[in-house]
Amino acid sequence: MINGITKLLGLLGNPVAHTLSPIIHNNLSEMLNINEVYLPFCVTSEGLEAVVKGAYEMGVQGLNVTVPHKNQVKDYLVDIDDTAKHIGAVNTLVRVDNGFKGYNTDMLGLLRGLNEDGVNLKDEEIIVLGAGGASKAVVYMCLKEGAKKVYLLNRTFSKAVDIANDMNKYFDNDIIVPMKLEDYKIFKNKKYLVFQTTSFGLHPNDEDVVIEDDSFYENVKIGVDIIFNPPETKFMKKVKNAGGIAYNGLKMLLYQGIIAYELWNNIKIDNETSMKIYELMQVEINKNA
Ligand code: ATR
Repeated sequence: MINGITKLLGLLGNPVAHTLSPIIHNNLSEMLNINEVYLPFCVTSEGLEAVVKGAYEMGVQGLNVTVPHKNQVKDYLVDIDDTAKHIGAVNTLVRVDNGFKGYNTDMLGLLRGLNEDGVNLKDEEIIVLGAGGASKAVVYMCLKEGAKKVYLLNRTFSKAVDIANDMNKYFDNDIIVPMKLEDYKIFKNKKYLVFQTTSFGLHPNDEDVVIEDDSFYENVKIGVDIIFNPPETKFMKKVKNAGGIAYNGLKMLLYQGIIAYELWNNIKIDNETSMKIYELMQVEINKNA
């Protein structure tokens, strides 16, 4: 029931019509009996600054930020968490004194989902496909979690080099090796953990995959696609056909939301509640399939 003391949460992005975030946050508020409501707002780049400032003045409790505003929004915050700063992208704004503080719960969400599935990155040799914004968060997570080596493959080599230089410098090591996508044939006779971080393969382009060659997948023990629609991408199918385990990006989406909600309300959400939300997300995706 919305009343005089209901707090507002929201999402700033463009477009926002197909977001699953209201399913996550409004169900959490209902289950946990917290008087908050979550709404998506379609915001232009020109309007973003006024919206962030206005939201603070209006007493908005917390915001998510999505494409295309994850970089630009950093200019309108009073503080930025270290992880978000080094990834260079903010997806969650938490109300503090005099404004909002920015966090990156995408990376933390991916990690929580992986840990729950028993996937550990420590001492692993990892292949990351793609060098866009999501890739940077994945590479950061791999380094932070103690990966032994990270091979970063991208169609445009210079973008892989930029991320590798930036992250190797920050962590003061040479764990990231930038590579051209077409050089994937060097991987043989060894099993790797592979992250697919591009949007290539996203619905309705379900048949797209960055590496077509089936022989590549013989080297994949675990494949994680950050895409969740379709629930099983071509990349995941190829991993499974070659005998590996494949995960989609739905748990990353779930936990980035759970962690944002925890930050906004200064609470910890248990596993049972998280799994209920996960089921509701799956129902929603199947409805739209
Ligand atoms: P972000 O990660 O910032 O959201 P994205 O659009 O989802 O960006 O993904 C961009 C990544 O997908 C890039 O690594 C891009 O490769 P380039 O840097 O060479 O453009 C990769 N990508 C997109 N289409 C691709 C394709 N057809 N083949 C290979 N890689 C592709």
